Parts: sequence; C-alpha cells; structure tokens
Amino acid sequence: MKQTDWYKDAIIYQIYPRSFCDGNGDGLGDIPGIISKLDYLKELGVNCFWLSPVYDSPQEDNGYDISNYRDIYKPFGTLNDFKKMLNEMHKRGIRLIMDLVVNHTSSEHPWFKDAISDKNSPYRDYYIIKKGRKNGKKPPNNWSGFFGEGAWQRIGDSEDYYLRLFAKGQPDLNWENPKVREEVKDILRYWLDMGVDGFRCDVITLISKDQRFKSDAPNIALRGKKYFVNGPRLHEYLHELYTDVYQNYDCMTVGETVLSTVEQAKLLVLPQRQELSMIFNFDHTDTDNYFGIKWFYRKFKLKRLKKVVRKWQHALHGCGWNSLFIENHDQRRCVGRFNTDDKKLRIESAKMLGTTYFLLQGTPFIYEGQELGMTNGDFSSIEDFMDVETHNIHALGERIKILKPILKKSLYSCSRDNARTPMQWDDSEYAGFSNVKPWLKVNENKSFINANEAMKDDNSIFHYYQKLIAFRKDNEVIKNGEYIDLLPNDNNVFAYERRLGDKSIVIISSFSNKNRRIRLIEKLNSYKLVLSNYNNDNDVLNPYETRVYINY
Ligand code: NOJ
Repeated sequence: MKQTDWYKDAIIYQIYPRSFCDGNGDGLGDIPGIISKLDYLKELGVNCFWLSPVYDSPQEDNGYDISNYRDIYKPFGTLNDFKKMLNEMHKRGIRLIMDLVVNHTSSEHPWFKDAISDKNSPYRDYYIIKKGRKNGKKPPNNWSGFFGEGAWQRIGDSEDYYLRLFAKGQPDLNWENPKVREEVKDILRYWLDMGVDGFRCDVITLISKDQRFKSDAPNIALRGKKYFVNGPRLHEYLHELYTDVYQNYDCMTVGETVLSTVEQAKLLVLPQRQELSMIFNFDHTDTDNYFGIKWFYRKFKLKRLKKVVRKWQHALHGCGWNSLFIENHDQRRCVGRFNTDDKKLRIESAKMLGTTYFLLQGTPFIYEGQELGMTNGDFSSIEDFMDVETHNIHALGERIKILKPILKKSLYSCSRDNARTPMQWDDSEYAGFSNVKPWLKVNENKSFINANEAMKDDNSIFHYYQKLIAFRKDNEVIKNGEYIDLLPNDNNVFAYERRLGDKSIVIISSFSNKNRRIRLIEKLNSYKLVLSNYNNDNDVLNPYETRVYINY
C-alpha cells in the first residue's frame, strides 16, 4: 500500500490510558474504559487518536518503560481488548496511532535481563554497556540524563555501566547494532499488520549516539547532549525504517524531537527524504522558562510565543508539516499557564488558547481534558505526586539545597502530574473516572469542570472545540494557506492571517485580562465573524476574547 498524507487532515486526540477511564474498578484507566467513551470522542469530532503506551511494563515511567512490545499491560486489558478497541475506533471512522518507545526498553525486558546476567549474552550488544572509569568507580563519562540524574547506571558491583538517559529502569538501546533495528522493524510490522495507523515516536532524536562517548563541558543540565541528541546516524536509521516498513503501509509518524532546531527538523520531515511525516517541536513550551528548563519557569510573554510560532510556520510552509499542540502528558495544563490564570475567565481563556493554536498550519492535537478546560492538579504534599521525574527533581533540589518554598512552587506548578490527574467525567467522588480511589488525586474542581456539565451547556469549551474542529475540516485555507503575523510587536493581542489566493481568515486573540482596542478590526469590514467566545464585533476586545473572521 502507498503512503498518503491523510495526517494533514487529522485532528488527533491524545489518550493517556492511566488517567482516562477506569472500566474494571481498580483505580487505573484501561482499554475497556476507553471503549466506553468512544462515542463521546466521536461527538467531539476528532478523527484520530494517539494512545500513550499500553504495552506490558513495570510502569516506572507509566509505560514509557516497555517489557514486552507485543502484549498489553494486564491492568489495562488484553490483546483482545486492544483489537476490539481498534475495531470500534475504525468503525467510527477514527484512526489510531500508538506510542513507539524504542530509544530504550524497560530493565525488565527479557533482552536486558539476559544482557546483564551474562557477559557473553547475545543481547549484551542490544544495549550501551561500557566500562566505568577508575576501575568502575566512576561512570564511563560525565553525561547527565533527562530526569535530574546521571546518565549511567552501574551494573551491580561490576566495572560496567549501562546508559540510561531517563529513569534507572529505562536502559537505552544500541541502534548501532543492526539486530536491534531489525527487532524494531518487526515490532512496527506487528502493530501495523494488526491495523494501527501510525506511531508517535518517543524521543526519536536520541536514538543515535556519538560513538566516541566523550565527556562534555560542565553544564547545568543534559551534559553530553551534543553527543546524544540528533546523533550522527539519526537520519540513516529513520530512512531505513521508512524504506523497510512505513512505505508499505498507509501510516503516519510523528516524531517527538526534543531540542531540534528548524534546520534539523526540516531534514526529518522533508517528504523527499522519507523519514517522518511530522514532528513535535517544543520551542513554544519554553517561552515561559529560562534555559529551556521547565523547572526554571518565568513569566509568560506573548511576544516570545509569537516569535516561535512565526519561525515554525514560515520554515515548514510548503515543504514540511507542523504538528500543533498546547498540552500533552508531559506539560502542565494550558489554562493558567499562558497568562490566563484568572479563574473567573477560565472558559474564555481556554477557548481563546484553543482558537489561537488550532487554526495555524499543521495537524492539531488535543490532550484529554483540554476540551473541558481542565486545570493543574491541586496537590498538597510531595507524596501526592506519582511521577518519577518529579520525585527525582525533588531529591535533586533537596540535595543541592534549593530553598524549600522555591522548590515547592516549581514542582507543584511544573510537574507532569498536573496533566495526568484523572479525567473529569462528572462531579461524583472520583469524578466518574473510577468507583474506587484512583492512582492519582482527583482535582477538586471536578464539581464544576466535568464532561457531564460540558455536554449540557451549549456554551461550554467542549462545544466550542466541536465548532473549531468542524470549521477546520475540509478548509483549504487553514490547511494550505500562508501564515502572516499581523501584530508582531503587540504583547497583549495575537492576530494572524491565513491566506490562500484571495481567500483569507483572520484570527484575533487577546491574551490580556483587560479590554483592548484593536485598530485592525476596523479594516476588516469586508470580512464576516464566524467564530468567537463573546458575542461582540466592535473594535474593543474583552479579556481573553478570540474572534475568527473570513472574507469568503
Ligand atoms: C517522552 C515521553 O513523552 C515521556 O513521558 C517519557 O518520560 C520520556 N519520553 C521517556 O520515554
């Protein structure tokens, strides 16, 4: 089968299975729970899902540590449940992309267990195992990983260490070994033959490491990144997967490309290079922190966001393809993040943020609960957090003696668990997510932020997203139009045009909690207002007002 570019018309909803819906009453979300909510998602209007990992796993990193790539984590269901879910999705005209986590496996994967139990194991070379310095007293080099720890883990009391850029239980695979690449291709074929429609490729820009394994200059975080991000054979490996697997299926791939510049991204997505369909860039998620480190957060500035959007919209127009997102399972919730934390204006600001990113060029992703305007969790102690990264950073902060209130504020506002609180279906004790105490604390505001309420209210964020989705579908201007920033220097209002031939769409969004007069609106007299979060067409924008105008 030939590849098509259906993904350009996709509107993708991300399901984080642990937190979505508990179908079997154990406090964890699962596949039967997902099946029970497919009609709700169909009604929202999405036409594709991205499912975070459901594979068998010890769950040190909530499934991003896989111990069996061909089976389902039992508390989530069985392979038969999975097939049923896939079938139910396809019956509703909704595609499914899986999470592909192949930079690393779990340390419970049989390959790894074998590799470390026997120096002559054929699986030893599936991983990156090196002798430590000083007779094994020091790791092979000074690299540090993504979760606030060193990147090497000593194997027992031997001289050897294995590389792990994430948690202890996530050993990195050695992609230099052709057998590893063949294994990955087999895994891909296994799921594609079952009918899945593509993959979200976890930290894919890390798969190729500079084989000199040199130490790096001191750095506050990610020491060694120049040797393990966008490594020397990255493009070769991706092209190999494409030619040996992807091109035989009508599937799509979206790469999680941490730390990629526009130039690097282009090399990954230019169609003639046959590597990935599209990528997630994270520049906009760094517009409210220092040094690209989320824990060092700083006040959001609209101008910084616009600059990043301009850069990516222009760079990929007519050559590659962007993905669009403002939330996922690793990011805190967008309401309350991008200068919009006034509770009274939560609904308006959620609609405004939705409109602002949704009508850019690229494929929009919606993260579960975003369509309800779910907010950060209300955690009251460090024990409330379940995330391995959060606990590692907490331990690191204590070790280097960061002042407690500063550490607390940073952890509570930036932890990934903020996005992982159970999905709020109704106002019952456990928010309709489960009938027993869930694995992570339910947010108290489930009493008024929940799907049940949203479905009943014509003015809800859910219904607004429905309209956004309907407006986007089959709209050539949104799909192919160029991007023009209409107010590049304004720090309160984001206004842009999408233009294709003589057709034009103008999007105006206020990021301010005050009224703002905008001259530009006077020039739009040949346009009509087709979507907004207030019923207002004069030249003064209300707090967090958003409007969409068309001229055709
Ligand atoms: C990125 C995933 O999104 C994140 O949740 C995970 O912890 C790391 N990759 C490691 O797999």
